[in-house]
Amino acid sequence: MDELREVLLKAAKEAGKIILQYFDGTFKIDHKEGINNLVTEVDKLAEEKIMQVIRATFPAHSIISEEAGEMIKESDYQWIIDPIDGTVNFAHGVPICCVSIGVLHKDEIILGAVYNPMMNELFFAEKGKGATLNGQPISVSKKSEFKRAFLVTGFPYKWPDGAEHPIKVFEMLVLEGLPVRRLGSAAIDLCWVACGRFDGFWEYNLQAWDVAAGYLIVKEAGGRVSDFKGNDASVFEKQTLATNGLIHEAILEMIMNKTSELS
Ligand code: IPD
Ligand code: CA
Ligand code: CA
Repeated sequence: MDELREVLLKAAKEAGKIILQYFDGTFKIDHKEGINNLVTEVDKLAEEKIMQVIRATFPAHSIISEEAGEMIKESDYQWIIDPIDGTVNFAHGVPICCVSIGVLHKDEIILGAVYNPMMNELFFAEKGKGATLNGQPISVSKKSEFKRAFLVTGFPYKWPDGAEHPIKVFEMLVLEGLPVRRLGSAAIDLCWVACGRFDGFWEYNLQAWDVAAGYLIVKEAGGRVSDFKGNDASVFEKQTLATNGLIHEAILEMIMNKTSELS
């Protein structure tokens, strides 16, 4: 485990250096599907660096990475990489973006690192050993009164059919006067729940690379992560509800009500 942890942290930090070097500077920006789903040359440079660092020690491990795709091998270990989570922020000089890397062993997340080099914040968790921010233990908030919750959400670039409920939940919460933010980086949203800045986060249609590290970090910080029915969330499923645990049922109920109203 020590070697896995060292490689993970090295990969996140090296990629972070690249991101910081280009941040708010000049770089090439391309579009993926849809005009607002961006990818920059820095995503690719950071991704290349992460894969180089992993392969130097673990050439036989599988890798799933957002831009490069899937490199599946006969291995129990799988690295899940988002070289820049929050690319649209990065492309506009907004310092809310990060490197996110999770390590799975036999389909279970065992290590996760999320690094925002602009804020110099490195979130890390190892299964069963708690979560840290820059080496200091972190934990979720203690707020139990849902009416006072501080929440964050995100929206997909493209809405699959029949997926209006997350925006309806957003509307309802805002109309009820709850403060709800939209930062634009799911990995940071999760980590900010983990360290108690937010009390809860929900989003529909995230990908494994957006959440693999963040799910473990929230859980190891004492939070709960589920789908919109209350089942334990899998990184390969599309529904994310991550909270301090105390407000989980309240927000779940709202999501379930909105889902049934719309179906
Ligand atoms: C995006 C961010 C954003 C979320 C999008 C993701 P990207 O990842 O996590 O917060 O709302 O659904 O695709 O494209 O910046 O890596
Ligand atoms: Ca992402
Ligand atoms: Ca990305």
